Amino acid sequence: MAKYYHITTYGCQMNVHESEKIAGVLTELGYEACENIEDCDIAVFNTCCIRENAENHAFGNIGMLKKLKAKKRDMIIAVGGCLTQQMGKAEDLHGKFPYVDIIFGTHNLGNLKQLILKKQARKKAVIEIEDCDGKVTEGEKPFRTSYPNAWINITYGCNNFCSYCIVPYVRGRERSRRSENIIAEAKQLISEGYKEITLLGQNVNSFANGTDDISFPELLRQIANIDGKFRLRFMTSHPKDFSEELAKIIAENPKICHAVHLPAQSGSDAILKAMNRKYTSGDYLKKVEILKKYVPDCALTTDLIVGFPGETDEDFKDTLNLVKKVGFSSAFTFVYSKREGTVAAKMENQVPEEVSKTRIMELISLVNSQTREQSAKYVGKTVEVLCEDYDKKKNLYLGRDEHGRMVYFESEKDISGEFVNVRINSANGVSLMGEITNGKE
Ligand code: SAH
Ligand code: SF4
Ligand code: F3S
Repeated sequence: MAKYYHITTYGCQMNVHESEKIAGVLTELGYEACENIEDCDIAVFNTCCIRENAENHAFGNIGMLKKLKAKKRDMIIAVGGCLTQQMGKAEDLHGKFPYVDIIFGTHNLGNLKQLILKKQARKKAVIEIEDCDGKVTEGEKPFRTSYPNAWINITYGCNNFCSYCIVPYVRGRERSRRSENIIAEAKQLISEGYKEITLLGQNVNSFANGTDDISFPELLRQIANIDGKFRLRFMTSHPKDFSEELAKIIAENPKICHAVHLPAQSGSDAILKAMNRKYTSGDYLKKVEILKKYVPDCALTTDLIVGFPGETDEDFKDTLNLVKKVGFSSAFTFVYSKREGTVAAKMENQVPEEVSKTRIMELISLVNSQTREQSAKYVGKTVEVLCEDYDKKKNLYLGRDEHGRMVYFESEKDISGEFVNVRINSANGVSLMGEITNGKE
């Protein structure tokens, strides 16, 4: 009889890819994916704890499974990811939800198969949270779900300790995979027909730091040199490590997309210092200038936080000014969320919630107006789109151009995974509408 799995993923791209690895393990154990959690034999929650709401979301959904588990006693519930790795949270989870069968840390993914087998052989919950510093696992077999895109981890962990951020505590110290393994994985994926490769790391620019391996720009160059038509993307770049060499490599290799995610976090020098970001707004603007010098059409996206402890109206204005100066094609905006164990959690002058709310509304409205302005410039142009999927509700195909803009269009036949030229007829906020055309502008 078929056995089914269901995975709920929270958080970043890294976690989305890790869920593909979890799916790989479950496939190996003979499980198949199912859409409704009610139908599954094993439910996995791959959690995130970057902000309090991410954490609450996971706790809420796990709580909702109590009734189902009471009805389906043999169903296995497993909780993994960053939340479980946080100090004391695994015990907390076990106490609140005693019906959860397996709790595993960010570093125990490689062991998941054994944990499931262990649970099947006993009644008691299996809890395994290893110290997340350390080794790099190779030879994983992710069950990829995002064709024509494929993610490849290049680094794990983070050494930056931005004062607001929990990631270094739940993902451990930064470590890099060997370039030969990464290049081999990219070659394999391209030979299997994947058309877009995204290299993942908390700070890709510091790839191989302190080892004898090649630098990040060189890694990009070597992957871009692999035969075949495909796109190459990477995220995330920490501005302090963004180099002129990297800008040149992007300019010289047509397969590397002209799109860079460069999280600014704030435009205020005092706040950037308190955040331990190790750059000023002036440094950030200089990096943008260098990038634009080599890649004038490069789309820039960013992350911004409002309401960091001590943020004054003036500091917030500096953030608005930075956004105005750069002109982001889109931005993720967040209200600061206090994370226990981080340096910022102990800071005085926490900003009142109402103040942060007003600020984020103002910031979102500025960012949206920039996004709309940039989208409008596409109208009448023809862009190359990698068709990713079909939107049933809209009855349209969709994909992105190299700058990362979502484009919707009609097609008679299924062209998922193909590159097509699309003439843009209209723009709607962050997305564009167009029609397939044979010629380029
Ligand atoms: N490594 C990446 C970011 C990973 S986390 C980088 O340094 O750019 C993604 C984003 O979440 C961060 O860029 C930041 O904007 C936001 N973030 C992280 N911790 C946060 C917190 N405590 N409160 C609000 N936003 C936070
Ligand atoms: Fe967090 Fe900073 Fe590391 Fe990004 S670079 S993961 S924001 S500590
Ligand atoms: Fe990602 Fe959330 Fe962990 S953003 S690294 S899943 S805390």
